Amino acid sequence: MNVLVINCSPKQTESSSYYVAQSMIATLSNSVPVEVEIIDATRLPHIDSAYADALCSPDCHHDLSVGSLALSEQLIASLDAADMVIIASPMHNYSVPSSLKSWIDHVVRAGKTFKITATGKHPLLEAKPVYILVSSGSTFSGEAAYQPDFFTPYMQAVLATIGQNQVFFFPIEGTVSTKAFVQQKIETIQRRVSEHLAATVM
Ligand SMILES: Cc1cc2nc3c(=O)[nH]c(=O)nc-3n(C[C@H](O)[C@H](O)[C@H](O)COP(=O)(O)O)c2cc1C
Repeated sequence: MNVLVINCSPKQTESSSYYVAQSMIATLSNSVPVEVEIIDATRLPHIDSAYADALCSPDCHHDLSVGSLALSEQLIASLDAADMVIIASPMHNYSVPSSLKSWIDHVVRAGKTFKITATGKHPLLEAKPVYILVSSGSTFSGEAAYQPDFFTPYMQAVLATIGQNQVFFFPIEGTVSTKAFVQQKIETIQRRVSEHLAATVM
């Protein structure tokens, strides 16, 4: 199984969401052979001028071998080749961090991963399970929600644009707390993810 991990945390390997991603991979590896590709989204640049131009004038010829278009080709190929995607991300300012937004801008590409028709936007990628491990300092879901959540509906909408409608969210909420509380949260999420994998994938 090819697993693509998008690590969006500035905390890198010290991040709570990435920690859960790693334990997911360990769980998967216990039952199936797993090939993992890890993309550090914090190192992705913003899209460049040629890329913006290509998306707005798709009929013209554009050089796919340089700049953001080349990177986009590469990131889309990785996404296409994956059997499963794990997005490990913090919530930043009620929404996605800029690293994740940069990955999205490179892979949600008119004429390549979705097409624009008279009846609307149509996805061009095959659906695969996408696990979103989203970590936040305080609570954003349920009755105890302390703040708005633009992360979840945005990710649902933007991934659906490119055909990804098997999206599973596992929030790790309330990390601004004691070490013991956070550890307990992480263990609970790890258990839920493992149960989900056992019921769906393994
Ligand atoms: C720039 C920035 C913005 C943040 N915005 C939010 C926010 O809107 N809501 C929230 O609950 N936590 C917010 N946080 C806290 C992080 O989401 C939290 O520390 C999270 O657990 C980090 O996840 P990670 O360990 O996977 O990197 C923010 C942190 C930073 C650095």
